[in-house]
Order: sequence, then structure tokens, then C-alpha cells
Amino acid sequence: HYFGIDIGTSAVKAILVDERQTVVAEADVPLQVSRPQELWSEQDPEAWWQAVQAALDQLRVAAGAAFADVRGIGLSGQMHGAVLLDGNNRPLRPAILWNDGRSFREAQELGAQHPELSRAMGVVPMPGFTAPKLAWLARHEPETFRAVRKVILPKDYIRLKLTGDVVTEMSDAAGTWWLDEARRDWSDAALAATGLTRDHMASLVEGSQASGTLRPEIAQRWGLWSDVVVAGGGGDAATGAVGLGAIEDGSAFISLGTSGQLFVTTRGFSPAPEALVHSFCHAVPGRWFQMAAMLNGASCLAWVANLLKRDIGELLRETEATYRRPSTILFLPYLAGERTPHNDPYARGVFFGLSPETRQTDLVQAVLEGVAFSFADAKQCLEQAGTPLTYAGIIGGGSRSEFWAKIFASVLNVPMVRYQGSDKGPAFGAARLARLATTGEAPEVVCTAPNILETIEPEPHLVDLYCPRVDMFRSLYRALKPEFT
Ligand code: XUL
Repeated sequence: HYFGIDIGTSAVKAILVDERQTVVAEADVPLQVSRPQELWSEQDPEAWWQAVQAALDQLRVAAGAAFADVRGIGLSGQMHGAVLLDGNNRPLRPAILWNDGRSFREAQELGAQHPELSRAMGVVPMPGFTAPKLAWLARHEPETFRAVRKVILPKDYIRLKLTGDVVTEMSDAAGTWWLDEARRDWSDAALAATGLTRDHMASLVEGSQASGTLRPEIAQRWGLWSDVVVAGGGGDAATGAVGLGAIEDGSAFISLGTSGQLFVTTRGFSPAPEALVHSFCHAVPGRWFQMAAMLNGASCLAWVANLLKRDIGELLRETEATYRRPSTILFLPYLAGERTPHNDPYARGVFFGLSPETRQTDLVQAVLEGVAFSFADAKQCLEQAGTPLTYAGIIGGGSRSEFWAKIFASVLNVPMVRYQGSDKGPAFGAARLARLATTGEAPEVVCTAPNILETIEPEPHLVDLYCPRVDMFRSLYRALKPEFT
């Protein structure tokens, strides 16, 4: 058996998977985000560790005897977060997360001073990434900056707790803006650009390799074998791909978690920084991917349901029952600012076109469509990067809604594929990486596609109706952009 543990933004998810790749038990422990200032987004690394411990306790109850039979653990996590450690490997301050926009100025300066680095780092510097955050820290919290001995990523803090080792792997290191993606090694030039050296970095393994074994007291605490392997694991985009079997050239999917991603595996490293595409190392060796990364995914639906004090499932059912055609209301989903395609931390959410007749279901439909429209932008960016989309899988919490997937199919004009168990994507991918690290099997053998639930074709009349709405969505952002700053 294998554990997959995903350190998400809104929850830690832990699952137990057996030899037949069936999920036998799962646990979910919610997390809070703190936004102490405008543009800031932080979490306390200790809160992740508390949540992981609670999740493992729950999993032990749910799994029974199978729990003690675990041979490997795979970690997945929200990407890009800066976890700053002192000389005793203790956090110096709350972690600065992927959806934090404070380092916008530093990101622009890095890009202007080092234009030659963006291709090698796979993407232009944007405030979500780790390197600009350290440039912000050097400027605004210089004492903390000087005290930093290691900079690690969220899931690697959990690895530190489990194994005592400071290790990361390629797919998460890829999102720091310090990794030379083609060489799969730290870039001394990019580190120097933010006043750091290799000594500040974790050592690197592939996601499917072992990174260490459990500390004896951890093994004892949960009654596990002491030689349980902790695999490299991956950033949540890459582990989602591994869970879906998207490790071959051209396999494409949409991830609808708190954030949103359009992800395509590529044969080689193919950077397209000018399109604001992220070209990163995959969690399995010798593979890379291209990704458009949006900061607002299913979180928009959770936000509107919370605001209306309604249950999400109920709202979705009512909205589907009243759905006839594209809404006349437009929603810009940029609640947390936006990365692809705008690189604009100041962008904000907008409802446009409200009338005295507007009902709750109209707002919800506009939210579902607005998120899908932002993926039409993502699709366009990947096309500019030389990667046309012909179909897409859909994973993450948002993939539970067939209705939303139908909207996506017609907005993007490509078939959408829904899979069994796809809401567990990243944790499941992490469990697969644990298996690869433990057994040494070939990735192709283990990372197969899950059973297809259904393939949703675009509806031609809706495709025609959505096309001009996407144009209006784009021009609404263009018109408002000066007002956001
Ligand atoms: C990807 C990204 C987000 C986080 C969310 O670039 O920033 O998807 O990984 O967990």
C-alpha cells in the first residue's frame, strides 16, 4: 500500500492506495489562508504539519489493517510557496503562497535585469514564483532575508518533518524560477540574481525517486515500518498529471482546484515565456510540460456559494435546471489577481450586466462561464506556444460537475473527458510516485489513464453563441485594466 498526501491550499488530502491502484481510504483536513494585507496570501507551515498529522490519524481509523502495510509515501503540494528556514530548519515567518501578489515590482525588475534567464527558467518572472518573493524579502524584511539558510517549498516542509531531510524534486523546483529546466539542475545565475546560492536550496531528486525514509519517531507514532520510502513527489500540477496518466507527449487536461491550470505534457523542454506559458520539468524523468496557470478556479464557485449562503451542489442543480443559453452577465474571475494570460496581481473580480431581473442562478452561471472563458485565454496562450488543444481531460474538485464540463466543452470547442475518481488527482498521482520510488517499475506501467466516465462533445449552437461572449469577456478586462491599478 501507498500513501498520497497533497498539501493543497484549502485542504490537506491524504489517501491510501492498494497494489491494484484502488483508493481504499481517504481523509481531508481543511486549511485557512491568511491575507494580512492587500495582495498578501500566507499560511503557517506548522498548520500544514498539524493538518497532515490529523489526516494520517483519520486515515488510520478509516483504513484499518492496511494502514500499517504502507511501503511508500508520495507528497504533492501547492507550488511556488516560499518556506524560509533558519539554521535549525525552523520557519522564520509565515510561508508566502503561490497566489500572493506582493512581489510584483521585484518580478518586473528581475525580468528587466535578466531577460536572458526567462527561457532557461521556463517562464518570465511573475509574483507567484519563489525567486521574486525572496527579492521582495531582501528589500522589505532584510533581517529575515539575512537569517534565511534554506528556502523550500510547501510539501518539502512536510518531507522535512517526515524524514529530517531537506530535499525537493524537479517538478516543484521548476516553479521557483531558480531551476534550469533543460538541465534539471539549479541555476547559479538565477540564484545570484536574488542574492542566493545553491547552499540555500534543497538537494534535487526526480519525483519518482526516493528522497529518504521515515524518521524512527514518526514511524513509531503511526505504527509504520521504519524503512518506508518517501518519494520525491511533485508540485500539484505534475502530480495531477501523473494521477491522470498524462506523462506522454500531447496528453492534455484542465485542473479545476482552488486554482486552474491547462496542462499539456511535452516531449522535450519547450519554453514560450512570451506567451506567459510555464514550461516546467515533469515529476517523471525525461519529461516536461507546458502549462497556463490561472489563480482562480473552483474557488470562484466556492466564493459565490459562500456569499449567497447556499450549498454548492444545490446551486449547481438549480443553475443547470434554468440554463438555456450563454448568460448575458459576464464575470471576470480575477478574485486573486491573475497570472496567465495577464500577469496582473491587481486585477479583481467583476460582475457586468446585472439587471433588476438577475437571480442567484444567473450569477452562478456567469461564474461558471467566467472561469471557462479564462481557460479560453489559456488555450490561446498554449496555441501561441505551439501547442494546439484537441481534447482535454478534467480533474480537481470542479470536475465533479458534469454541467460545468459541458460549459467548458462548448466554450473551448474541444471534447472534455471526465474520469473516475478524478477529484483526487494530485494525491493519487503522489501515491503513484511513491510506488515508482518503492518498486522501480517503469512509469508507463503504473501511470495509466483512469477509467473514462464520459466524453462530452461541444454543442455546435452553443459554440457559436459562446464565441462572441469570449470576445466581450476579453474586451471587458482590457477596458478595466487601467482602473484595477
Ligand atoms: C501553479 C499554481 C497553483 C498552485 C496551486 O502554477 O500556482 O496551481 O500549485 O496549488
